[in-house]
Amino acid sequence: MVNSIYKENLFSEKTVLITGGGTGIGFRTARELAQLGATVFLAGRTAEKLNVSADFIRKENGNAHPITCNIRDEENVQDCIEKVLELTKKSGFGEGRIDYLVNNAGGQFPSPAENISAKGWKAVIETNLSGTFNVSKEVFNKSMKQYGGAIVNVLANFRNGFPMLSHTGAARAGVDNLTKSLAVEWGRYGVRINSVAPGVIQTSGLDKYPEEFKSFILGFGKNNQANRLGTEAEIAAGIIFLLSPAASFITGETLKIDGAESLYSPVYPPADHKNFYKFED
Ligand code: ADE
Repeated sequence: MVNSIYKENLFSEKTVLITGGGTGIGFRTARELAQLGATVFLAGRTAEKLNVSADFIRKENGNAHPITCNIRDEENVQDCIEKVLELTKKSGFGEGRIDYLVNNAGGQFPSPAENISAKGWKAVIETNLSGTFNVSKEVFNKSMKQYGGAIVNVLANFRNGFPMLSHTGAARAGVDNLTKSLAVEWGRYGVRINSVAPGVIQTSGLDKYPEEFKSFILGFGKNNQANRLGTEAEIAAGIIFLLSPAASFITGETLKIDGAESLYSPVYPPADHKNFYKFED
């Protein structure tokens, strides 16, 4: 079980689809939402990983279902949303409903911009930007347009550009803008859409990077007022806040969760200290 500050049953009778729900921030968020009563659908490309993660949540007495889905492929997205809706219908959620969506799936590879091939560029834009659009559009058309809901997109700290990850920086800035457009277009249907922009987080995603790049990230990742990396639990808490009724008047917003990493300045660098609060998971 995870440590949650939210009240028990906050999400009972609710369904949540989380892309990239099998690992890292997505999985941590799914565990907490399931613990708070939600029926969670973990979407991703690798069935084995999703099965293990869904089993894990079930062992914690949560309701979890794996959904294999390639968010880059529009037809595949249509099929998997259809499957989720059928499953929610079978589980007693009326005619089938997705109340909440967390667009967390993403991927990128470090590279100087001049060495990124057209194929590599396209892959990152399609996953992070088009994938978020594909899933949001389908969930809106098939459920939220009728029943309302809330969406949270997981971005990154792209405030000062994203050197060595320029493709993902451009894609995340695109999702930040998409958040605003959709908030205004879909508000009339009772749909809120917000984003979180995490700083560097201690997560399994970091292990995908080559060792040298990982140490570079770990180095600058502590340029924040906590003087440490963020945790998955701290990002999950922000996502859950934005989904919850506590955020009922918030839409079109991007919440930075980075200990002020995005405000780092060499003019006044952070100091090493022990007092900054840490959420114990
Ligand atoms: N995670 C990373 N890339 C993905 C994709 N194309 N579909 C679903 N989850 C992903």
